[in-house]
Amino acid sequence: ELSPIDKAKFAAAKRAVDFVEDGMRVGLGTGSTAAWMVRCLGELVREEGLRITGVPTSSRTADLARQVGITVVGLDEAKWLDLTIDGTDEFDANLNLIKGGGGALLQEKIVATASDQMIVIADAAKEVAQLGAFPLPVEVVPFGWQTTKALIEETLVSLDVLGRSASLRLNGQQPFITDEGNYIVDLHLNRIGNARQLALVVNQIPGVVENGLFIDICDVVIIGQGDGRVELRD
Ligand code: A5P
Repeated sequence: ELSPIDKAKFAAAKRAVDFVEDGMRVGLGTGSTAAWMVRCLGELVREEGLRITGVPTSSRTADLARQVGITVVGLDEAKWLDLTIDGTDEFDANLNLIKGGGGALLQEKIVATASDQMIVIADAAKEVAQLGAFPLPVEVVPFGWQTTKALIEETLVSLDVLGRSASLRLNGQQPFITDEGNYIVDLHLNRIGNARQLALVVNQIPGVVENGLFIDICDVVIIGQGDGRVELRD
């Protein structure tokens, strides 16, 4: 028996795969909600002969997709995607997102941007009035990361962002390493007033590869409820 939160994630995932049509090239997101979607897609491939090509956004998702029978290719082989379905850590009324809690934000943003449509699947708890309660992940190259982190903190002060502490994401005692071999600095901001500006300014800092703000990328959010109902926002 699934917990209410898993029922909500599953309901959203199940509804999202309705958008997938035969022959499509589909971006496959990362995280526990996206994993439900990959399993649902795998079932359609195995049991209904759905023919799709999947482009995973992490090594974890690639492993799962292969396990459930989805044909997996890299983004450059697929070139352009019809649709990406991914989870999120937060979404607001404008369908802007904070992603990267699972550390896959870089590949996720590249894949979503290379798609005609991005559908986000989420449980209702991910909806926020203002982005920022969830720490904003910023992917940085390992070289000089402490200097890069200090520059990010200075930038936050100059932008007058409320919370300003930044922390290196750890995996035990060691830095967490992304699929691209980078580190993640999490920004504890509480509330982000101007997400568009913050996303642009942070990405200007040398050493920053990408940040977890997805602005004007998501087209539809499918919100799942614990009782299995879903709501679409677009
Ligand atoms: C992965 O890097 C993230 O962007 C995920 O999409 C996010 O963490 C959502 O994960 P859950 O579906 O497990 O909440």
